[in-house]
Amino acid sequence: MIAQKNLERTKKTLQKHGQDHLLAFWDQFTEAQKLNLLEQIESLDFPDVERWITDIIKNPDSAAIRTDFLPPLSYPPGPENPEQQQKYAKAVKLGKELISDGKVAAFVVAGGQGTRLGFDGPKGDFPIGPVSNRTLFHIFADSIKAVGEKYHVICPWYVMTSPLNHDRTIEVFQSNNFYGLGPENVFIFQQGTLPNFDFGGKILLADKAHIACSPDGHGGSLKALYRSGALEDMENRGVEFLSYFQVDNALINIFDPLFIGLHALDGAEMSSKALTKSGPKEKVGNFCLIDGKINVIEYSDLPDEMGERRNPDGSLVFHLGSIAIHIINRTFVERLNDKNFGLPLHKAVKSIPHIDETGIIVESDGIKLESFVFDALPLASKSIILETLRHEEFAPAKNATGVDSVETAKQMIVDRAAGWLESVGVTIPQKPDGSVDCLLEIAPGFALDREGLKEKLDQIPTIAPGATVYLS
Ligand code: UD1
Repeated sequence: MIAQKNLERTKKTLQKHGQDHLLAFWDQFTEAQKLNLLEQIESLDFPDVERWITDIIKNPDSAAIRTDFLPPLSYPPGPENPEQQQKYAKAVKLGKELISDGKVAAFVVAGGQGTRLGFDGPKGDFPIGPVSNRTLFHIFADSIKAVGEKYHVICPWYVMTSPLNHDRTIEVFQSNNFYGLGPENVFIFQQGTLPNFDFGGKILLADKAHIACSPDGHGGSLKALYRSGALEDMENRGVEFLSYFQVDNALINIFDPLFIGLHALDGAEMSSKALTKSGPKEKVGNFCLIDGKINVIEYSDLPDEMGERRNPDGSLVFHLGSIAIHIINRTFVERLNDKNFGLPLHKAVKSIPHIDETGIIVESDGIKLESFVFDALPLASKSIILETLRHEEFAPAKNATGVDSVETAKQMIVDRAAGWLESVGVTIPQKPDGSVDCLLEIAPGFALDREGLKEKLDQIPTIAPGATVYLS
Protein backbone atom coordinates (compact mmCIF):
# COMPACT_ATOMS: atom_id res chain seq x y z
CA MET A 1 0.00 0.00 0.00
CA ILE A 2 1.24 3.44 -0.83
CA ALA A 3 1.30 5.66 2.18
CA GLN A 4 -0.98 8.63 1.60
CA LYS A 5 1.69 10.79 3.20
CA ASN A 6 4.26 9.79 0.54
CA LEU A 7 1.84 10.48 -2.25
CA GLU A 8 0.93 13.88 -0.87
CA ARG A 9 4.59 14.78 -0.52
CA THR A 10 5.33 13.74 -4.10
CA LYS A 11 2.31 15.67 -5.41
CA LYS A 12 3.52 18.80 -3.61
CA THR A 13 7.04 18.45 -5.02
CA LEU A 14 5.69 17.97 -8.53
CA GLN A 15 3.39 20.97 -8.24
CA LYS A 16 6.19 23.12 -6.93
CA HIS A 17 8.32 22.25 -9.96
CA GLY A 18 5.55 22.36 -12.54
CA GLN A 19 5.72 18.61 -13.25
CA ASP A 20 2.36 17.44 -11.80
CA HIS A 21 1.32 16.06 -15.22
CA LEU A 22 3.47 13.03 -14.33
CA LEU A 23 0.60 11.80 -12.12
CA ALA A 24 -2.15 12.59 -14.68
CA PHE A 25 -3.13 8.94 -15.13
CA TRP A 26 -2.66 7.91 -11.49
CA ASP A 27 -6.20 6.64 -10.98
CA GLN A 28 -5.81 4.13 -13.83
CA PHE A 29 -2.81 2.33 -12.28
CA THR A 30 -2.45 -0.92 -10.38
CA GLU A 31 -0.76 -0.72 -7.00
CA ALA A 32 2.49 -2.02 -8.53
CA GLN A 33 2.43 0.61 -11.28
CA LYS A 34 1.83 3.33 -8.70
CA LEU A 35 4.77 2.19 -6.61
CA ASN A 36 6.99 2.00 -9.65
CA LEU A 37 6.08 5.49 -10.86
CA LEU A 38 6.66 6.96 -7.41
CA GLU A 39 10.09 5.35 -7.38
CA GLN A 40 10.88 6.87 -10.76
CA ILE A 41 9.81 10.31 -9.56
CA GLU A 42 11.69 10.01 -6.27
CA SER A 43 14.87 9.12 -8.13
CA LEU A 44 14.82 12.57 -9.79
CA ASP A 45 16.77 15.33 -8.15
CA PHE A 46 14.38 18.26 -8.59
CA PRO A 47 16.85 21.06 -7.83
CA ASP A 48 19.01 19.54 -10.62
CA VAL A 49 16.01 19.30 -12.93
CA GLU A 50 15.18 22.97 -12.27
CA ARG A 51 18.76 23.93 -13.08
CA TRP A 52 18.75 21.95 -16.35
CA ILE A 53 15.50 23.59 -17.40
CA THR A 54 16.73 27.12 -16.73
CA ASP A 55 20.35 26.78 -17.78
CA ILE A 56 20.09 24.36 -20.69
CA ILE A 57 16.60 23.56 -21.94
CA LYS A 58 15.16 27.08 -22.00
CA ASN A 59 18.51 28.79 -22.57
CA PRO A 60 19.20 29.35 -26.28
CA ASP A 61 22.80 30.26 -25.44
CA SER A 62 23.58 27.14 -23.48
CA ALA A 63 25.84 25.81 -26.23
CA ALA A 64 27.67 29.12 -26.58
CA ILE A 65 31.32 28.67 -25.90
CA ARG A 66 34.20 30.96 -25.30
CA THR A 67 36.30 31.76 -28.31
CA ASP A 68 39.51 32.83 -26.59
CA PHE A 69 41.14 29.48 -26.99
CA LEU A 70 44.39 28.32 -28.55
CA PRO A 71 45.57 25.22 -30.36
CA PRO A 72 47.12 22.76 -27.87
CA LEU A 73 50.52 21.10 -28.13
CA SER A 74 50.66 17.46 -29.12
CA TYR A 75 53.11 14.63 -29.62
CA PRO A 76 53.58 13.77 -33.31
CA PRO A 77 52.83 10.21 -34.49
CA GLY A 78 56.56 9.47 -34.64
CA PRO A 79 59.60 11.12 -33.02
CA GLU A 80 60.88 14.18 -34.89
CA ASN A 81 64.22 14.79 -33.21
CA PRO A 82 66.81 12.82 -31.21
CA GLU A 83 65.38 13.95 -27.90
CA GLN A 84 61.89 12.77 -28.88
CA GLN A 85 63.38 9.58 -30.23
CA GLN A 86 64.75 8.81 -26.79
CA LYS A 87 61.50 9.72 -25.08
CA TYR A 88 59.40 7.58 -27.45
CA ALA A 89 61.70 4.60 -26.95
CA LYS A 90 61.46 5.02 -23.18
CA ALA A 91 57.66 5.36 -23.43
CA VAL A 92 57.27 2.19 -25.52
CA LYS A 93 59.37 0.26 -23.01
CA LEU A 94 57.32 1.59 -20.08
CA GLY A 95 54.03 0.98 -21.91
CA LYS A 96 55.00 -2.65 -22.56
CA GLU A 97 55.94 -3.11 -18.90
CA LEU A 98 52.63 -1.65 -17.73
CA ILE A 99 50.70 -3.96 -20.06
CA SER A 100 52.65 -7.06 -18.97
CA ASP A 101 52.20 -6.10 -15.32
CA GLY A 102 48.41 -6.20 -15.84
CA LYS A 103 48.04 -2.48 -15.16
CA VAL A 104 45.99 -1.72 -18.29
CA ALA A 105 42.39 -2.71 -19.07
CA ALA A 106 40.23 -2.23 -22.14
CA PHE A 107 37.12 -0.06 -21.82
CA VAL A 108 34.55 0.29 -24.58
CA VAL A 109 31.53 2.57 -24.41
CA ALA A 110 28.72 0.78 -26.17
CA GLY A 111 25.57 2.32 -24.75
CA GLY A 112 24.61 4.30 -27.85
CA GLN A 113 21.64 3.51 -30.03
CA GLY A 114 23.43 3.17 -33.35
CA THR A 115 20.43 4.70 -35.11
CA ARG A 116 22.52 6.02 -38.01
CA LEU A 117 23.82 2.55 -38.79
CA GLY A 118 20.28 1.28 -39.16
CA PHE A 119 21.19 -1.89 -37.27
CA ASP A 120 18.67 -3.31 -34.86
CA GLY A 121 20.95 -4.65 -32.16
CA PRO A 122 23.97 -3.67 -30.09
CA LYS A 123 26.37 -1.93 -32.48
CA GLY A 124 29.19 -4.15 -31.27
CA ASP A 125 27.36 -7.10 -32.81
CA PHE A 126 27.61 -5.58 -36.27
CA PRO A 127 29.72 -7.74 -38.65
CA ILE A 128 32.62 -5.63 -39.91
CA GLY A 129 35.46 -8.04 -40.80
CA PRO A 130 35.76 -7.74 -44.61
CA VAL A 131 36.80 -11.39 -44.90
CA SER A 132 36.12 -12.98 -41.50
CA ASN A 133 32.74 -11.26 -41.19
CA ARG A 134 33.55 -11.00 -37.49
CA THR A 135 31.65 -8.43 -35.47
CA LEU A 136 33.15 -5.34 -33.84
CA PHE A 137 32.96 -7.01 -30.39
CA HIS A 138 34.61 -10.13 -31.79
CA ILE A 139 37.49 -8.19 -33.34
CA PHE A 140 38.05 -6.19 -30.12
CA ALA A 141 38.00 -9.45 -28.15
CA ASP A 142 40.50 -11.01 -30.57
CA SER A 143 42.84 -8.06 -29.95
CA ILE A 144 42.48 -8.27 -26.19
CA LYS A 145 43.17 -12.01 -26.31
CA ALA A 146 46.17 -11.57 -28.60
CA VAL A 147 47.65 -8.89 -26.32
CA GLY A 148 47.14 -11.20 -23.34
CA GLU A 149 48.98 -14.00 -25.15
CA LYS A 150 51.79 -11.72 -26.29
CA TYR A 151 52.41 -10.24 -22.84
CA HIS A 152 51.45 -13.36 -20.80
CA VAL A 153 48.81 -11.50 -18.85
CA ILE A 154 45.05 -11.36 -18.48
CA CYS A 155 43.68 -8.05 -19.72
CA PRO A 156 40.20 -7.41 -18.36
CA TRP A 157 37.59 -5.78 -20.55
CA TYR A 158 35.00 -3.31 -19.22
CA VAL A 159 31.98 -2.89 -21.46
CA MET A 160 29.47 -0.10 -20.84
CA THR A 161 25.94 -0.61 -22.11
CA SER A 162 22.70 1.26 -21.54
CA PRO A 163 19.15 0.16 -20.74
CA LEU A 164 18.58 0.29 -24.51
CA ASN A 165 20.89 -2.62 -25.21
CA HIS A 166 22.12 -4.13 -21.94
CA ASP A 167 20.20 -7.41 -22.04
CA ARG A 168 20.91 -7.94 -25.74
CA THR A 169 24.61 -7.24 -25.20
CA ILE A 170 24.78 -9.82 -22.41
CA GLU A 171 23.04 -12.34 -24.68
CA VAL A 172 25.51 -11.60 -27.48
CA PHE A 173 28.50 -12.16 -25.19
CA GLN A 174 26.96 -15.31 -23.72
CA SER A 175 26.06 -16.82 -27.05
CA ASN A 176 29.63 -16.19 -28.25
CA ASN A 177 31.08 -17.71 -25.09
CA PHE A 178 32.62 -14.33 -24.25
CA TYR A 179 34.77 -14.76 -27.36
CA GLY A 180 37.08 -17.04 -25.39
CA LEU A 181 38.10 -14.33 -22.90
CA GLY A 182 36.38 -15.97 -19.93
CA PRO A 183 33.23 -14.40 -18.46
CA GLU A 184 35.18 -13.49 -15.32
CA ASN A 185 37.38 -11.16 -17.38
CA VAL A 186 34.56 -9.25 -19.05
CA PHE A 187 32.73 -6.76 -16.84
CA ILE A 188 29.52 -5.54 -18.46
CA PHE A 189 27.70 -2.70 -16.74
CA GLN A 190 25.01 -0.15 -17.50
CA GLN A 191 25.25 3.61 -17.69
CA GLY A 192 22.61 5.87 -16.15
CA THR A 193 19.71 7.65 -17.80
CA LEU A 194 18.28 11.16 -17.80
CA PRO A 195 14.67 12.23 -18.37
CA ASN A 196 13.53 13.67 -21.71
CA PHE A 197 11.81 17.05 -21.88
CA ASP A 198 9.57 19.09 -24.12
CA PHE A 199 10.76 22.55 -25.12
CA GLY A 200 8.89 24.13 -22.22
CA GLY A 201 10.78 22.02 -19.68
CA LYS A 202 8.05 19.47 -18.94
CA ILE A 203 9.32 15.94 -18.38
CA LEU A 204 7.90 13.58 -21.01
CA LEU A 205 6.10 10.33 -20.24
CA ALA A 206 7.01 7.30 -22.36
CA ASP A 207 3.66 5.79 -21.40
CA LYS A 208 1.13 6.54 -18.70
CA ALA A 209 3.26 5.01 -15.97
CA HIS A 210 6.82 5.59 -17.17
CA ILE A 211 9.00 8.65 -17.50
CA ALA A 212 10.67 8.91 -20.93
CA CYS A 213 14.43 8.55 -20.38
CA SER A 214 17.53 8.11 -22.49
CA PRO A 215 21.16 7.17 -21.76
CA ASP A 216 23.10 9.95 -20.05
CA GLY A 217 25.86 10.09 -22.70
CA HIS A 218 29.31 8.49 -22.61
CA GLY A 219 30.25 11.01 -19.93
CA GLY A 220 27.96 8.93 -17.73
CA SER A 221 30.63 6.24 -17.89
CA LEU A 222 32.70 7.97 -15.22
CA LYS A 223 29.90 7.64 -12.67
CA ALA A 224 28.79 4.24 -13.94
CA LEU A 225 32.31 2.81 -13.51
CA TYR A 226 32.07 3.73 -9.85
CA ARG A 227 28.42 2.77 -9.21
CA SER A 228 28.71 -0.60 -10.95
CA GLY A 229 31.72 -1.76 -8.94
CA ALA A 230 33.95 -1.73 -12.03
CA LEU A 231 36.45 0.60 -10.34
CA GLU A 232 36.61 -1.69 -7.35
CA ASP A 233 37.12 -4.66 -9.65
CA MET A 234 39.99 -2.78 -11.32
CA GLU A 235 41.55 -2.03 -7.98
CA ASN A 236 41.31 -5.67 -6.89
CA ARG A 237 43.04 -6.71 -10.09
CA GLY A 238 45.74 -4.04 -9.79
CA VAL A 239 44.55 -2.22 -12.93
CA GLU A 240 45.62 1.43 -13.02
CA PHE A 241 44.81 2.58 -16.55
CA LEU A 242 41.69 2.29 -18.69
CA SER A 243 42.15 2.28 -22.43
CA TYR A 244 38.89 3.97 -23.48
CA PHE A 245 37.44 3.60 -26.97
CA GLN A 246 34.15 3.74 -28.88
CA VAL A 247 32.32 0.72 -30.15
CA ASP A 248 32.28 1.99 -33.73
CA ASN A 249 36.04 2.18 -34.36
CA ALA A 250 37.02 -0.91 -36.33
CA LEU A 251 40.76 -0.05 -36.35
CA ILE A 252 41.27 0.69 -32.67
CA ASN A 253 44.69 -0.24 -31.30
CA ILE A 254 43.51 -0.97 -27.77
CA PHE A 255 46.84 -1.57 -26.08
CA ASP A 256 49.29 0.92 -27.59
CA PRO A 257 52.55 0.85 -25.59
CA LEU A 258 53.61 4.27 -26.94
CA PHE A 259 50.38 6.02 -25.90
CA ILE A 260 50.22 4.29 -22.52
CA GLY A 261 53.92 4.95 -21.93
CA LEU A 262 53.84 8.67 -22.85
CA HIS A 263 50.76 9.15 -20.66
CA ALA A 264 52.47 7.46 -17.70
CA LEU A 265 55.87 9.11 -18.23
CA ASP A 266 54.26 12.56 -18.26
CA GLY A 267 52.21 11.77 -15.14
CA ALA A 268 48.93 12.48 -16.94
CA GLU A 269 45.48 11.59 -15.56
CA MET A 270 43.49 11.53 -18.80
CA SER A 271 45.04 11.66 -22.26
CA SER A 272 43.82 11.56 -25.82
CA LYS A 273 44.73 10.45 -29.30
CA ALA A 274 44.09 12.87 -32.13
CA LEU A 275 44.42 13.07 -35.88
CA THR A 276 44.72 15.88 -38.35
CA LYS A 277 41.20 16.67 -39.53
CA SER A 278 40.40 16.04 -43.17
CA GLY A 279 38.93 19.57 -43.35
CA PRO A 280 37.29 22.27 -41.20
CA LYS A 281 33.92 20.52 -41.33
CA GLU A 282 34.93 16.98 -40.41
CA LYS A 283 32.48 15.68 -37.82
CA VAL A 284 34.94 15.12 -34.99
CA GLY A 285 35.58 16.97 -31.75
CA ASN A 286 38.26 19.71 -31.83
CA PHE A 287 41.14 19.91 -29.37
CA CYS A 288 41.56 23.41 -27.94
CA LEU A 289 43.43 24.98 -25.06
CA ILE A 290 41.22 27.00 -22.70
CA ASP A 291 42.84 28.64 -19.66
CA GLY A 292 45.82 26.36 -20.17
CA LYS A 293 43.69 23.19 -20.08
CA ILE A 294 43.03 20.80 -22.94
CA ASN A 295 39.36 20.69 -23.94
CA VAL A 296 37.41 19.11 -26.77
CA ILE A 297 34.84 21.30 -28.49
CA GLU A 298 32.32 19.22 -30.41
CA TYR A 299 32.12 19.90 -34.17
CA SER A 300 28.59 21.23 -33.85
CA ASP A 301 29.71 23.78 -31.20
CA LEU A 302 32.86 25.11 -32.89
CA PRO A 303 32.17 28.53 -34.42
CA ASP A 304 32.77 28.38 -38.21
CA GLU A 305 35.28 31.20 -38.01
CA MET A 306 37.45 29.20 -35.62
CA GLY A 307 37.07 25.98 -37.56
CA GLU A 308 38.19 27.71 -40.76
CA ARG A 309 41.11 29.63 -39.23
CA ARG A 310 44.38 28.85 -41.02
CA ASN A 311 48.12 29.16 -40.39
CA PRO A 312 50.30 31.04 -42.92
CA ASP A 313 51.14 27.68 -44.57
CA GLY A 314 47.44 27.02 -45.18
CA SER A 315 47.00 24.32 -42.51
CA LEU A 316 44.11 24.56 -40.05
CA VAL A 317 44.93 26.25 -36.74
CA PHE A 318 42.58 23.87 -34.92
CA HIS A 319 43.63 20.83 -36.87
CA LEU A 320 43.58 18.23 -34.10
CA GLY A 321 40.44 16.12 -34.27
CA SER A 322 39.33 13.88 -31.42
CA ILE A 323 38.86 10.21 -32.24
CA ALA A 324 37.52 9.39 -28.79
CA ILE A 325 40.51 7.35 -27.69
CA HIS A 326 41.72 8.06 -24.18
CA ILE A 327 43.86 6.66 -21.40
CA ILE A 328 42.11 7.33 -18.11
CA ASN A 329 43.64 6.69 -14.69
CA ARG A 330 41.54 4.65 -12.30
CA THR A 331 42.49 7.01 -9.48
CA PHE A 332 41.28 10.00 -11.52
CA VAL A 333 37.81 8.47 -11.85
CA GLU A 334 37.87 7.62 -8.14
CA ARG A 335 38.84 11.17 -7.25
CA LEU A 336 36.04 12.62 -9.38
CA ASN A 337 33.48 10.35 -7.74
CA ASP A 338 34.76 11.12 -4.25
CA LYS A 339 34.04 14.77 -4.97
CA ASN A 340 30.58 13.97 -6.34
CA PHE A 341 31.48 15.71 -9.59
CA GLY A 342 29.12 16.54 -12.44
CA LEU A 343 30.05 16.99 -16.09
CA PRO A 344 28.20 19.68 -18.06
CA LEU A 345 25.08 18.51 -19.87
CA HIS A 346 24.59 19.11 -23.58
CA LYS A 347 21.16 19.23 -25.15
CA ALA A 348 20.18 17.42 -28.32
CA VAL A 349 16.90 17.91 -30.13
CA LYS A 350 15.68 14.46 -31.12
CA SER A 351 12.44 12.84 -32.16
CA ILE A 352 11.07 11.25 -28.97
CA PRO A 353 8.08 8.90 -28.74
CA HIS A 354 5.94 9.88 -25.74
CA ILE A 355 2.32 10.21 -24.71
CA ASP A 356 0.35 13.41 -24.99
CA GLU A 357 -1.98 14.76 -22.31
CA THR A 358 -4.78 12.48 -23.51
CA GLY A 359 -2.60 9.39 -23.11
CA ILE A 360 -2.05 8.76 -26.82
CA ILE A 361 1.42 7.85 -28.09
CA VAL A 362 2.88 10.53 -30.35
CA GLU A 363 6.36 11.12 -31.73
CA SER A 364 7.65 14.66 -31.86
CA ASP A 365 10.82 16.61 -31.24
CA GLY A 366 11.94 16.99 -27.66
CA ILE A 367 15.14 17.42 -25.71
CA LYS A 368 17.60 14.76 -24.61
CA LEU A 369 20.44 15.61 -22.25
CA GLU A 370 23.86 13.99 -22.41
CA SER A 371 27.28 14.42 -20.86
CA PHE A 372 30.48 13.86 -22.83
CA VAL A 373 33.49 12.03 -21.44
CA PHE A 374 35.91 14.51 -22.99
CA ASP A 375 34.50 17.23 -20.71
CA ALA A 376 36.50 15.49 -17.97
CA LEU A 377 39.78 16.42 -19.72
CA PRO A 378 40.06 19.90 -18.12
CA LEU A 379 39.47 18.29 -14.71
CA ALA A 380 42.63 16.21 -15.08
CA SER A 381 45.75 17.54 -13.37
CA LYS A 382 47.66 16.73 -16.56
CA SER A 383 46.61 15.64 -20.02
CA ILE A 384 48.61 14.89 -23.15
CA ILE A 385 47.67 14.44 -26.80
CA LEU A 386 49.33 11.93 -29.11
CA GLU A 387 48.68 12.37 -32.81
CA THR A 388 48.09 9.26 -34.79
CA LEU A 389 47.51 8.36 -38.41
CA ARG A 390 43.98 7.96 -39.66
CA HIS A 391 44.68 4.91 -41.83
CA GLU A 392 46.27 3.14 -38.87
CA GLU A 393 43.73 3.73 -36.12
CA PHE A 394 40.44 5.33 -37.10
CA ALA A 395 37.77 3.64 -39.16
CA PRO A 396 34.44 4.53 -37.58
CA ALA A 397 31.39 2.63 -38.80
CA LYS A 398 28.73 5.21 -38.04
CA ASN A 399 26.55 5.22 -41.15
CA ALA A 400 25.16 2.52 -43.40
CA THR A 401 26.64 4.19 -46.49
CA GLY A 402 28.82 7.16 -47.46
CA VAL A 403 31.29 8.89 -45.12
CA ASP A 404 32.31 6.97 -41.96
CA SER A 405 30.26 4.01 -43.07
CA VAL A 406 30.44 0.25 -42.95
CA GLU A 407 31.80 0.32 -46.49
CA THR A 408 34.62 2.79 -45.70
CA ALA A 409 35.50 0.99 -42.45
CA LYS A 410 35.79 -2.38 -44.26
CA GLN A 411 37.95 -0.84 -46.96
CA MET A 412 40.20 0.74 -44.32
CA ILE A 413 40.68 -2.65 -42.66
CA VAL A 414 41.79 -4.04 -46.04
CA ASP A 415 44.02 -1.03 -46.76
CA ARG A 416 45.73 -1.15 -43.38
CA ALA A 417 46.41 -4.88 -43.79
CA ALA A 418 47.83 -4.20 -47.27
CA GLY A 419 50.04 -1.41 -45.90
CA TRP A 420 51.41 -3.63 -43.13
CA LEU A 421 52.07 -6.49 -45.53
CA GLU A 422 53.83 -4.26 -48.03
CA SER A 423 55.99 -2.82 -45.26
CA VAL A 424 57.37 -6.30 -44.55
CA GLY A 425 58.02 -6.99 -48.22
CA VAL A 426 54.84 -8.80 -49.33
CA THR A 427 53.66 -7.83 -52.83
CA ILE A 428 50.08 -6.60 -52.88
CA PRO A 429 48.20 -6.68 -56.20
CA GLN A 430 46.97 -3.28 -57.30
CA LYS A 431 44.30 -2.02 -59.67
CA PRO A 432 45.36 0.44 -62.39
CA ASP A 433 44.30 3.33 -60.13
CA GLY A 434 46.71 2.13 -57.42
CA SER A 435 44.04 0.78 -55.06
CA VAL A 436 44.35 -2.66 -53.48
CA ASP A 437 43.15 -5.46 -55.77
CA CYS A 438 42.27 -8.12 -53.19
CA LEU A 439 40.27 -8.60 -50.00
CA LEU A 440 42.55 -8.82 -46.98
CA GLU A 441 42.16 -9.13 -43.26
CA ILE A 442 44.74 -9.85 -40.58
CA ALA A 443 43.41 -11.45 -37.39
CA PRO A 444 44.87 -9.82 -34.24
CA GLY A 445 45.97 -13.31 -33.17
CA PHE A 446 48.12 -13.52 -36.31
CA ALA A 447 49.74 -10.12 -35.89
CA LEU A 448 48.90 -7.07 -33.81
CA ASP A 449 51.18 -4.76 -35.79
CA ARG A 450 53.89 -4.61 -38.44
CA GLU A 451 56.46 -6.00 -36.01
CA GLY A 452 54.24 -9.01 -35.38
CA LEU A 453 53.96 -9.65 -39.12
CA LYS A 454 57.73 -9.89 -39.49
CA GLU A 455 57.67 -13.00 -37.29
CA LYS A 456 55.04 -14.64 -39.51
CA LEU A 457 56.59 -14.06 -42.93
CA ASP A 458 56.85 -17.80 -43.62
CA GLN A 459 53.08 -18.20 -43.12
CA ILE A 460 52.03 -15.53 -45.59
CA PRO A 461 50.94 -16.91 -48.99
CA THR A 462 51.48 -15.18 -52.32
CA ILE A 463 48.53 -12.88 -52.84
CA ALA A 464 47.01 -13.06 -56.33
CA PRO A 465 44.95 -10.25 -57.93
CA GLY A 466 41.34 -10.49 -56.75
CA ALA A 467 42.23 -12.99 -53.97
CA THR A 468 40.45 -13.17 -50.62
CA VAL A 469 42.89 -13.73 -47.77
CA TYR A 470 42.32 -14.00 -44.01
CA LEU A 471 45.59 -14.30 -42.14
CA SER A 472 44.67 -16.02 -38.89
C1 UD1 B 1 31.82 11.01 -31.34
C2 UD1 B 1 32.37 12.24 -30.60
C3 UD1 B 1 33.28 13.06 -31.48
C4 UD1 B 1 34.36 12.19 -32.04
C5 UD1 B 1 33.75 11.03 -32.83
C6 UD1 B 1 34.82 10.07 -33.28
C7 UD1 B 1 30.57 12.78 -29.10
C8 UD1 B 1 29.55 13.77 -28.67
N1 UD1 B 1 31.28 13.07 -30.15
O1 UD1 B 1 30.84 11.48 -32.22
O2 UD1 B 1 33.87 14.13 -30.72
O3 UD1 B 1 35.18 12.95 -32.89
O4 UD1 B 1 32.84 10.30 -31.99
O5 UD1 B 1 34.27 8.96 -33.89
O6 UD1 B 1 30.75 11.77 -28.48
N2 UD1 B 1 27.69 6.16 -26.25
C9 UD1 B 1 27.38 5.55 -25.07
N3 UD1 B 1 26.36 6.07 -24.35
C10 UD1 B 1 25.67 7.17 -24.72
C11 UD1 B 1 26.01 7.79 -25.94
C12 UD1 B 1 27.03 7.25 -26.70
O7 UD1 B 1 27.97 4.55 -24.69
O8 UD1 B 1 24.77 7.59 -23.99
C13 UD1 B 1 28.79 5.59 -27.05
C14 UD1 B 1 28.33 5.00 -28.35
O9 UD1 B 1 27.93 3.66 -28.18
C15 UD1 B 1 29.60 5.15 -29.20
C16 UD1 B 1 30.20 6.45 -28.66
O10 UD1 B 1 29.68 6.64 -27.39
O11 UD1 B 1 30.52 4.12 -28.93
C17 UD1 B 1 30.00 7.67 -29.56
O12 UD1 B 1 28.69 8.00 -29.65
P1 UD1 B 1 28.08 8.72 -30.93
O13 UD1 B 1 26.78 9.28 -30.54
O14 UD1 B 1 28.10 7.76 -32.07
O15 UD1 B 1 29.10 9.94 -31.16
P2 UD1 B 1 29.47 10.69 -32.52
O16 UD1 B 1 28.48 11.75 -32.79
O17 UD1 B 1 29.69 9.70 -33.58
